[in-house]
Amino acid sequence: MSTETTDSPEGTESGVLAVVESQLSNFGLTPLRAAHELGFHTVLVSNDPDRYRVVSLAEEVYAKHLDEIVTADTNSVDAVVAALAPFHEAGRLRGVMTVTDYNIPIVAEVAARFGLPGLNPQAARNCRDKLLMRNACRAAGVAVPGYHQATSEDDALAAADRFGYPCVVKPMTESASIGVTLCRTPAEVIAAYRDLTASPTDFRGQPRRPGALVEEYLIGFEVSVESVLVDGERHLIGVTDKALGVHPHFVEMGDTFPSMLSEPVRRSCTDLARSALDAVGHDFGAAHVEVKVTADGPRIVEVNGRMAGAEITQLIREATGLYLQREVVRLHTGQPADLTRTHDRAAASRYLAAHRVGTLARIQGEELARRVPGVVEVDLEAHPGDTVRPAESNLDLLGYVVANGATTGDAVRRAESALGQLAPVYVADAPERFDENDEATR
Ligand SMILES: Nc1ncnc2c1ncn2[C@@H]1O[C@H](COP(=O)(O)OP(=O)(O)OP(=O)(O)O)[C@@H](O)[C@H]1O
Ligand SMILES: [Mg+2]
Repeated sequence: MSTETTDSPEGTESGVLAVVESQLSNFGLTPLRAAHELGFHTVLVSNDPDRYRVVSLAEEVYAKHLDEIVTADTNSVDAVVAALAPFHEAGRLRGVMTVTDYNIPIVAEVAARFGLPGLNPQAARNCRDKLLMRNACRAAGVAVPGYHQATSEDDALAAADRFGYPCVVKPMTESASIGVTLCRTPAEVIAAYRDLTASPTDFRGQPRRPGALVEEYLIGFEVSVESVLVDGERHLIGVTDKALGVHPHFVEMGDTFPSMLSEPVRRSCTDLARSALDAVGHDFGAAHVEVKVTADGPRIVEVNGRMAGAEITQLIREATGLYLQREVVRLHTGQPADLTRTHDRAAASRYLAAHRVGTLARIQGEELARRVPGVVEVDLEAHPGDTVRPAESNLDLLGYVVANGATTGDAVRRAESALGQLAPVYVADAPERFDENDEATR
């Protein structure tokens, strides 16, 4: 373990808020910013603290909102406890949290050891592991797709036959849609199964449960239900419409808040999400439950014991004024959350993906995108020289736009218009200099 201290305002500290790892996205760094705005001494505990420097918000957050970095083995509860013990012993540790699924159970254990607020560890494990989540839902009679933990290729093929084609083959403990694949043939099931079981560890170096999940393919559109549990009461924040990319992958291409669905459909999703959260034992803080609305009714895709990722928290703030990151920090530090809404608008995000494999020369149209009415953010995460490919997971996306509007329809039209201004230019296509007669530079 090693520590590195950056500037922190003297005499203003209201205690330490530790964030253990994060999502590899701008959103992932926003809890540190929110905690710092509340006056906490912010500590990032990570096994690779520079991992997050690649996202565009990193420069601001590392310089202004991150007071201390502690390098530790974040895949170990004992190591994280040891890393935070000095703060605890000095009476400064007020809270510990994470927004990445990989560390949810570890942080729940750490919080319990220090007697700090947090999710109960069994609920955290149920949310982290898709097999445990499915088992808990099924045991409670909550609607899920058919699923099977396949532990051999033959077992995967037998499950696929039972559920019918196409089916979904996916990992049990990843995130960002990594490795989630729609399989149309037995050969595709075998290829996906081999791919997922080739490595004994996951994307963050944690041991994988053996095998892969084979699931019935849910046909329909997708929403997520955002909620927060305060004083034992589950408060619904709202329903988000989720747009997906092209098969065989399931990349998140945009989110829209609040949902444009009718009240009865939204209600059926929120009722199901509540039952799923009860089924996994979710008892603290924010939750993000993904639901597919099928011809047979809503079905649970996933239950996350944390805030929504991507830009959904930003959409919520644009639409309602509720600053969820700040309120979640408050809950983790034992303070009451303020769920007051100050306005009633809508917001939408849309993501940019490469159309083909190539080396990026640039992304053109950023200024044009900013000029679309209602656009509040244009973020380009990919840089000239990057090798890009059509997105296979959320991590392959090149950037995004966020727009607000008086209604969901306004916000969507604005976000789509802004996205339409952006175009990746690949090295082989890039002209040497601007030529107004050349399509690539217009
Ligand atoms: N059984 C299924 N039927 C249809 N689509 C599915 C199924 N399972 C997963 N998907 C699709 O794949 C996406 C990613 O799957 P899942 O949520 O299980 O993985 P994840 O890596 O945790 O995702 P993320 O972190 O991006 O939310 C889902 O949002 C959904 O669109
Ligand atoms: Mg998911």
